[in-house]
Amino acid sequence: MKVFISGNIASVGIKQLEENNISITQWKENRQITAEELIEACQGQDGLISVGPNKINAEFLKACSHLKVIALHSVGYDQVDVAAAKKLNVPIGNTPGVLSVATADTAFLLMLAVSRKAFFSHKKIIKGEWKNYEPSPELGIEVNGKTLGIFGLGKIGLEMAKKCKAAYQMEVIYHNRSRNEEAEREIGAKYVSFEELLAQSDVLSIHTALTPETKGKFTLDVFKQMKPNSIFINTARGGIHNEKDLIKALDERMIWGAGLDVTNPEPMDKDNPLLSMESVAVLPHIGSATEETRAAMAQIIVKNILAGLKGEKLPFEVM
Ligand code: DGY
Repeated sequence: MKVFISGNIASVGIKQLEENNISITQWKENRQITAEELIEACQGQDGLISVGPNKINAEFLKACSHLKVIALHSVGYDQVDVAAAKKLNVPIGNTPGVLSVATADTAFLLMLAVSRKAFFSHKKIIKGEWKNYEPSPELGIEVNGKTLGIFGLGKIGLEMAKKCKAAYQMEVIYHNRSRNEEAEREIGAKYVSFEELLAQSDVLSIHTALTPETKGKFTLDVFKQMKPNSIFINTARGGIHNEKDLIKALDERMIWGAGLDVTNPEPMDKDNPLLSMESVAVLPHIGSATEETRAAMAQIIVKNILAGLKGEKLPFEVM
């Protein structure tokens, strides 16, 4: 059986595929494969491991309906036309669960980095602007005892909430389509309306999937309803916030700061105004980028690929 991999996956995954006599072709160039190149590369293959934001849309699926399985190197599947895949009987697998801790760590890291203007201060040293000890340079704010709002309290949001509660005794409020009783029981998270979430959160962290309902949800009108001293964190998908509106909201002090691991588009341009703002921290989509998590993701991918090649139900199949 033959599998095409559109990027790098952890070596444990490659080893397991080889042990199962899978013949691998891998995209090795230091750029994302284009849609046309991906279609071309998948001809004559039995399976695809899709690394990165490749669009698994109706056009791709039609051209590659011979694939027995597509295993995503992500938990998110907003890039997939699930209905088209179902219609063509191409099973799609993802990697849920294993990246919750690492992604929540990234949200926590961004919260602290923003609250203490860490990235901005670091850049001052690089620019040779650290001249003397100033008792009141650009001051940060503290998160201890404040209110954490989670938009989309699933596995990753719950990990972030647990960390904030344990480290800073933060109160946790959340807004979801449906209640998360586990979180209410475990950490006393309180369900609130979307408007209450905006009005009460000192730190508002996004952990929802990108769907037609959440796409572009955070607009100027929404930022206006947040506290002027609040911090907005997005480690989910850049498409959930409107970037121009976020810049305006920060410029006009509707909110105090922002931490982003995801942007729209990705990669972010190096001249983006967000990168020179004092209370902003941006990372290049590294949410799940740890040795441990990437190895765990690769092992799930192999399980999905092997099941799909045998015509069995994928252990982690996208609905
Ligand atoms: C995910 O797993 O969805 C990460 O954001 C990588 O895309």
